Amino acid sequence: VTVQVNKPGAAVPKSMFGLFFEDINFGADGGLYPELVKNKSFETDDHLIGWKAIRGGAALSEYTILGQQPLSATNNHYLRLTAKASSPDAGFINEGFRGMGVKQNAEYNFSVYARRGAGNVSGLRVILEDEKGQALAQAQVSGLTGEWKQYTAVLKPSATSSKAHLKVVMDGAGTADLDVVSVFPKDTWQNRPNGLRTDLVQLLKDMKPGFLRFPGGCIVEGRTLDQRYQWKKTIGAVNDRESLINRWNTEFTHRYTPDYYQSFGLGFFEYFQLSEDIGAEPLPILNIGMACQFNSAELAPLSATTPKGGPNASADTHVHSADEITLETFIQDALDLVEFANGPATSTWGAKRVAMGHPAPFNLKMIGAGNEQWGPQYYERYELFAKAVKAKYPNIKLVSSAGPDPGDERFKAATTRFRELGADFIDEHYYAKPEWFRQNVGRYDNYPRTGPKIFAGEYAAQSVAIASPRNKNTWDCAISEAAFMTGLERNADVVEMASYAPLFANVDAWQWTPNLIWMDNLRSYGTPNYYVQKLFSVNKGTTMLPVTNKNGEDNLFTSAVADKTTNEIVVKLVNYSTSARPVKINLAGVKKVGQTVKATVMASDDLQAENSLDKPMYLAPKEETFKVSSPTMSYTLAPNSFTVLRIPNK
Ligand code: AHR
Repeated sequence: VTVQVNKPGAAVPKSMFGLFFEDINFGADGGLYPELVKNKSFETDDHLIGWKAIRGGAALSEYTILGQQPLSATNNHYLRLTAKASSPDAGFINEGFRGMGVKQNAEYNFSVYARRGAGNVSGLRVILEDEKGQALAQAQVSGLTGEWKQYTAVLKPSATSSKAHLKVVMDGAGTADLDVVSVFPKDTWQNRPNGLRTDLVQLLKDMKPGFLRFPGGCIVEGRTLDQRYQWKKTIGAVNDRESLINRWNTEFTHRYTPDYYQSFGLGFFEYFQLSEDIGAEPLPILNIGMACQFNSAELAPLSATTPKGGPNASADTHVHSADEITLETFIQDALDLVEFANGPATSTWGAKRVAMGHPAPFNLKMIGAGNEQWGPQYYERYELFAKAVKAKYPNIKLVSSAGPDPGDERFKAATTRFRELGADFIDEHYYAKPEWFRQNVGRYDNYPRTGPKIFAGEYAAQSVAIASPRNKNTWDCAISEAAFMTGLERNADVVEMASYAPLFANVDAWQWTPNLIWMDNLRSYGTPNYYVQKLFSVNKGTTMLPVTNKNGEDNLFTSAVADKTTNEIVVKLVNYSTSARPVKINLAGVKKVGQTVKATVMASDDLQAENSLDKPMYLAPKEETFKVSSPTMSYTLAPNSFTVLRIPNK
């Protein structure tokens, strides 16, 4: 293997390896966003999702969802309970997200809005119980009045449980109204009151990601335009954010999760803040007036005067009926988003960011226009969208979508069109078998060096078939991705961003496999694929270096970069073979090397090996060092291994 240190190539983009986040598999509610109460505001379509009445014999005589004199215009449903007698078991249970994860002696902020009606209800008792109904923590709320008021308490569980639930019962007989029932851990990332789950953010931060793409994925589009993601509804006071059915709440996925809604407690402000916390460039993806083309394919008219969907609409084009939505709505959303992220306190949307506690701009540099879209209707919307955004914000880069590859004709057509349009980035998606990744390591070798850059925005090796429930995060998938990623790195002048997808999955509530990070209510682990992503990201270096043996000849895959910040040569080697492989590495143009080389190795004889909640580091990188005396060195790669060598360049 010859690394041509004397022929350095382009700079490696800082954003090169990043993250794709979508609220799929309970990634947000029930995952990264640690609110323990499901449907805390009773605002889902079926208002009692997550809630179950306990009658206390017959003490709880009635319960109903009402809307008169609500808390706010957007939070306009609440639960009314009527008890004919006082009972320790007359009230409601919230099941959480497949249970609630609570830790012994940790503190949880309980809060509720409540008011009393007829009768003599003096207060509420709230109890965290384990799966068997044993009380873990309790608190009393007293002094209810006839007006809405927020009551708070701190719950400190006496034991750890990953399947706890919350019980709320009435003290006294009569009527009480409840809304926005919340149990939120005090221990959050940066100890923020509406903060994120610490173990999960830590896993993300450890990857040193170059960017964070959010909020998806298909949920950007929605099955219908009414169900699209609207960022403006996800900012401001958390309790006023309207919940929305999750696009992955469907019988069409492998695990039916009819209770899947987005609370938007994790909204656009929090995504920007998360990006900043983990050092990633924010990359919001916006709807461009098109619902998911795999579903309703609903379109927003181009303007009020082209209500039929525009010149490219076909006879079966389904145009959104609400005439107030046109493409202009979506363009305005994009312009306002730039102002929200970057604008001064004196601007309308910048002021909202400042009011939420972030006076400094978020420094937004790029926006995605649509997710997995294709065809003339997309291009015409994109052109108008791009024209308007660039006219006001010429420095904002736009990411256009080529949709899913491999082998998709629509993908090829979109790529051609966006090259003609001179797009900034083309977003390519590919989910395929592990061998596809090894066979396509040269995918970008012959891409044009001019024109749009590539964002490999979603990819993952699928062990069985695309999104099959039998897919596993095997070492075979991960090592094949590592092989492919040497090709990304060797083409970092073309592929400026890349992200594995999806990011998170809850072991008890997923719709897609495989995924980068798995979790339950208390624990989480990185898959072998996670460690592959991490190794590429933390070793991305600063300058591309040409390397021979590049195209997977004889199942050896290699790439190399120089790291100017540490003055090291970084060589990545993937040995997809059951035999150990001795390699000779020659650093052309280097006169002298430092004595000690650090090798970080992932290896397993078993290509089916996986990590799990119980064995989170079963397959994880291990470090070793070895001594060298010249720029030509020998090293033996382990069978089925991915190795990163950091060689000091003296
Ligand atoms: O990553 C899961 C889904 O795959 C994304 O939502 C979509 O963009 C793609 O089809």
